[in-house]
Amino acid sequence: MPYRVLGLAGSLRQASFNRSLLRSAVSLAPDQLNIEPFELGSVPLFNQDLEPDLPAEAAAFRQALESADALLISTPEYNSQVPGVLKNALDWASRTYKQINVVKSKPVAIMGATDGGVGTSRAQAQLRSLLSIMGLHVLPDQLYVANVTTKMDQAGIITDQETLRRLGKLLESLASFSSLIVGQARGQTQGQDQG
Ligand SMILES: Cc1cc2nc3c(=O)[nH]c(=O)nc-3n(C[C@H](O)[C@H](O)[C@H](O)COP(=O)(O)O)c2cc1C
Repeated sequence: MPYRVLGLAGSLRQASFNRSLLRSAVSLAPDQLNIEPFELGSVPLFNQDLEPDLPAEAAAFRQALESADALLISTPEYNSQVPGVLKNALDWASRTYKQINVVKSKPVAIMGATDGGVGTSRAQAQLRSLLSIMGLHVLPDQLYVANVTTKMDQAGIITDQETLRRLGKLLESLASFSSLIVGQARGQTQGQDQG
């Protein structure tokens, strides 16, 4: 059974480079990974008052996270930071209302694309820290796609071979990492069942 990977792009822009990067990941994924993109446009603004009676869209997002084995996040960089759209969505996931943090202990890989020259490295560093604080296991490997307009065509297809190679490598690493972390957790559960 392949690992179920929920794919998030931190942009709502129709022609988003990060959504395109995620789409490329779906087609390049090794057999061990089944990547399913989730559109963040449906996730409402976080409001703590709504937690006791979750809006359906927030509940659906939490459900999608909960049923995933791992995450793959493609983040833009806004003013050197993680975009609000992505941070907002992750706040719904992490809350411990009724003791449930739906992403805790899941493996996650980060990547990002920009038409700028720094490749989202500052946003990725911030996201790495945020995800660690939320209790996820963050893959050490990283993929920075700088000057993306020279590496993708108008349809969002990656044309640069080196970018394709690096994306493939990131996905292979995520597959091994998922096997290590999810496999270990499943083994422990089985051990408990038997014991
Ligand atoms: C408010 C705002 C701030 C931005 N700040 C940065 C930045 O700090 N670094 C960067 O590389 N690009 C920055 N950009 C450019 C984005 O990388 C570019 O808009 C990119 O296309 C966004 O990702 P997307 O294509 O997935 O929507 C910024 C764009 C906006 C709208």
